[in-house]
Amino acid sequence: MYRTHNCGELRISDLNKEVTLSGWVHKSRDKGFMVWIDLRDRYGISQLIFDEKRSSKDLIKDAKDLGREFVIQITGKVIERSSKNPNLPTGEIEILVSDLKTLNSSKVPPFTIENNTDGGEELRMKYRYLDIRRNSIKDKLIFRNKVSSEIRKYLSDLNFIDVETPCLIKSTPEGARDFVVPSRMNSGEFYALPQSPQTFKQLLMVGGLDRYFQIVKCFRDEDLRADRQPEFTQIDCEMSFVNQDDVLNTFEGLTKHLLKKIKNVTTDKFLRISYEEAVSKYGSDKPDIRFDMEFGELNSTAQNKDFNIFNSAELVVGISVPNGNNFTRKEIDKYIDWVKRPQIGAKGLVYVRCNEDGSYKSSVDKFYDQKDFGNWAKSTGANSGDLIFVMSGKKNEVRSQLGELRLEIAENLGLRNPNEFAPLWVTDFPLLSWDEESSCFHAMHHPFTSPKLDQLDLLKSKPGEVKANAYDLVLNGNEIGGGSIRIHDKNIQSLMFKHLGFSEKQAKEQFGFLMNAFEYGAPPHGGIALGLDRLVAILDGNESIKDYIAFPKNNSGKDIMIDAPSPISKEQLDELSLSLKSK
Ligand code: AMO
Repeated sequence: MYRTHNCGELRISDLNKEVTLSGWVHKSRDKGFMVWIDLRDRYGISQLIFDEKRSSKDLIKDAKDLGREFVIQITGKVIERSSKNPNLPTGEIEILVSDLKTLNSSKVPPFTIENNTDGGEELRMKYRYLDIRRNSIKDKLIFRNKVSSEIRKYLSDLNFIDVETPCLIKSTPEGARDFVVPSRMNSGEFYALPQSPQTFKQLLMVGGLDRYFQIVKCFRDEDLRADRQPEFTQIDCEMSFVNQDDVLNTFEGLTKHLLKKIKNVTTDKFLRISYEEAVSKYGSDKPDIRFDMEFGELNSTAQNKDFNIFNSAELVVGISVPNGNNFTRKEIDKYIDWVKRPQIGAKGLVYVRCNEDGSYKSSVDKFYDQKDFGNWAKSTGANSGDLIFVMSGKKNEVRSQLGELRLEIAENLGLRNPNEFAPLWVTDFPLLSWDEESSCFHAMHHPFTSPKLDQLDLLKSKPGEVKANAYDLVLNGNEIGGGSIRIHDKNIQSLMFKHLGFSEKQAKEQFGFLMNAFEYGAPPHGGIALGLDRLVAILDGNESIKDYIAFPKNNSGKDIMIDAPSPISKEQLDELSLSLKSK
């Protein structure tokens, strides 16, 4: 038997027990006549003691020879420590070792296996299996498992069945590029890896399965960011005979359940706001509503005065910064410079100080009077002691710029508390967006999303104005999930493909299988997919998903541990009927 206990479970109540433990040598301290070793496994650390008076000479020598990360097995007696460590659950006891076996040696690790390691990111990625030994990564993977098992239980209890869908498929458009896989048996032909199981889950509904879920890998060849990986995991779901409210209620239930079960947070408020409201109030379709700072539109009180920049703008819009009147001139200038950075791209930022005595002091005093500023304060909800920031420009641009500033200020003021959770639904997205470059519409969600049922006529006459029966789940300013009620009528689906620039032939080639299925009694259906990596990271108070994935890719989409992607042999290329362009 390798072990009677794990390294995290022995307590003072186990005194005098004879135990066997196995694990890694975390640290050792050699005082000559006494050696202490911290033995580590997934569950914790136990201190081992070898001492001249009570252990044999050979045993002490063997203990001294152990290096960091050696794998050992020991047998010994649980004794009380003379100096206790209150920071360690096992800190009241130690094991007086009577037998030691080295199960495997280890090279000196390239970085220290400690919470605060000296290893840089690339090095840790190369030796990811060593990084996983550190609590900070290990705990995140255990946390992920806790969330995913809770999700499985919740959905299974609601009669969702877990069905696996294929990975070697034909392209499913979700807005990114496909990863493709060449077929050996069908020379010159390619599979695509799924960007999502979208069409398959719809076919499962046509197949009558009624409620489906899958915790499934998806693949998207897109630029990486902190919240994006080329392969990531979705909690993918679909339901038959449902309308939007049915889907929202089900997944609102799941979100509340997870917050309660995992974070012990009770969520009473679960806002539902339209896309239009989200972008006009917060400058984002994934607003962080843990704090206020809602936009106030100022066109009626800021235009037709002598300030030409505002006069010529499509939108003049402001926010009130709580207690912002405390900002020094230098701090205000820093924000002005911040919005002018190319990443934000604003031309400038006007400020108005709301003094304690009710008066206002502004960077545009020349053009506006106290009454004007009073109106701006009313529109932005500013009180005395606050500061109003105002921007102007093209509607969409200025909203998104002010939205970024809102987040930056909130971050600096400590208003984005990672232990607070503010979920909401954003609904009523536009169905289509016009793409100037290709001169055709793009689906805002995906081509299978149904228009609002009362707008079907508009789909023929003014497709650009149609709202989608689509929704996003947003948590703390992050898009956690997206879904929609689907089109289940062949003619509407055909019209949709037409608006998206597909010829009838192209639509048939790419999606004939789905259109055919719609001719055999497709039920009304809808669903959603939540990003598991994002959900887990946010629940754990982080926005970066990398460390919640056991073996993630680096920022250039590479796995540097296994060295992928990498070239393949000429023979393999020939077998796949592929040739590389000579450089
Ligand atoms: P969507 O494209 O909105 O919808 O994806 C659903 C959720 O998946 C997560 N996500 C990602 N997470 C990490 N890295 C990525 N590269 C990445 N891309 C997306 C996000 C997102 O909200 N088939 C539809 C769902 C449906 O309509 O039911 C779909 O895939 O959290």
